[in-house]
Order: sequence, then structure tokens, then C-alpha cells
Amino acid sequence: MARIIETRRLTPVTKYFRLDAPLIAASAQPGQFVMLRVRDGGERIPITIADYDRDAGTITIVVQEVGATTKRVCALEAGGEILDVAGPLGGHIEIPPGGHVCGVGGGFGSAALLCLMRELTARGDKTTAILGARNKDLVILADELRPLCNNVEICTDDGSAGFKGFVTQRLAQMIGGDGPGRPDQVVAIGPMAMMRAVAETTREAKIRTLVSMDPLMVDGTGMCGGCRVTVGGKAQFACVDGPCFDAHEVDFEVAMRRNKQYVREEKQAAERLTCMAARESS
Ligand code: FES
Repeated sequence: MARIIETRRLTPVTKYFRLDAPLIAASAQPGQFVMLRVRDGGERIPITIADYDRDAGTITIVVQEVGATTKRVCALEAGGEILDVAGPLGGHIEIPPGGHVCGVGGGFGSAALLCLMRELTARGDKTTAILGARNKDLVILADELRPLCNNVEICTDDGSAGFKGFVTQRLAQMIGGDGPGRPDQVVAIGPMAMMRAVAETTREAKIRTLVSMDPLMVDGTGMCGGCRVTVGGKAQFACVDGPCFDAHEVDFEVAMRRNKQYVREEKQAAERLTCMAARESS
């Protein structure tokens, strides 16, 4: 059980949580995740650890409402509790020191850049965060990231904030020497289509790139096989072999197909939850 210390709405469908979780905070590292469960018998969902504070014994997570369970999580407020929070799980992001690291965050994936940028900047790397969203109201955590990295670049599809266009377009400009300049390493976290586009952008430039895969997970400990992804032609389990993989080796077609497998069931579960909420409030 983890007590919720603070919550904040970041967008209409995205919520920030700071949780009292001293054991997880003590050993968490960038790239790792936790498994949450909000009710007995309910499903477990993987959520990337956005940040941690070892002294305060807290971790930060950002949850996007995409289905019934994430809606249940986002209905919780400070002072409440999350039934189970297990972690830290998965491997952490490993980056050779001394270079220019560019973290690319799409939508709520930007949250995972918090601890990554802070750790890399602290050890002396040059750091740039590129945050992408459809419009300025959907850009999250830019103010929190500014003190944690050397440069923050904002990209919006409609041009309402920062660069008008996709993160990959701005990244391509940087690879060409614009702004903060060519990165030596890219880490992309966000929607699968964005991560695939980042992989294509850096492939030709031969820039080492990691992506954080978020397939369906059941146990999060390598037992069920649900989180299988194909990397370099081999089956890998995202929960124990990842969740971060070499972007140029990931088979995104297979990963996207597998992630669509339970869309209908997810929709039905979300509809059931809406009906239950309507009944309870009438
Ligand atoms: Fe079960 Fe990864 S979630 S093997």
C-alpha cells in the first residue's frame, strides 16, 4: 500500500502523483517502472517511474487515463492510497558518460525524462529534452525539466508553443547542427509511433538510440510472456530484458500489432466503469 502525498492534473487526462514509497525510492533508477494495482482482483498496470527522491522516500509517477484501471488511478487524490505498488522493476537506462544526450518525450512520456535528465546533467553530460504534444495545453512538465537539463525544446503540432512540428523534425534539425547541436545519444519515451519515427530519424545518422517499450504486462517479472517484443530478431521480455531497447533493433510493426490485441476489451472495461460511476452518482 502506498500513500498518495500529492496529486496534480497536468492535462484533462494526465495526472501527476507523488507517493510515499521509501523502499522503491531507495533503489529506483531512470528507465525503471512500477506495477500498480488499485483494487483486489483488479489488473496490474506498469507505470514508468518519472522521478524519485531518496531523502524524502518518495517516487513520482504520471498516469494517463487510457482505460478502466488508469481511470481508477486518476480518480485518487492526495491522502488516499494505492493498494499495491511493486518495484522498481526492469533494467535501468545505461548511457556512456560525457556526451550530449537528447531525451525525446511524447505526451505523458515526457515525465520519464525528469530523473534521467537530472542524473545525466549532475554527472556532467550535456542534456537536451525535446517535449512534443499536439498543442501547448498538452505539453507537460516543461517548467520542472528546465532546471534539470541544459536545454528544453518544445514542439507542438499546431505551433501554439515552441517549434511548430513534430519532435522528429526538430531532432533532425539538431542532428544537422541547429540549436543545441547534434546529440551523441537519444532516448525516446512516448507513443509507439513517435518512438518508431525517432528511430528512423537517428538510424541514418548512426546515433545510438534507446526507446522505452510499454507492451501489455501481467506480472512484470518475466513469468507470463505477455510483454514479449522482438528485438534484433529475437523475442525479449520488456519487463526483465527492457523496458529500454536499442531503437534500431526493435520490430515496431509487431509491437504495435500486439498492443492493439485487447483494444476491444479495454473499451468494454472503460464503458463498464463509466456505467458503474453513473449508477453510483444517481
Ligand atoms: Fe509477464 Fe513480462 S509482464 S513476462
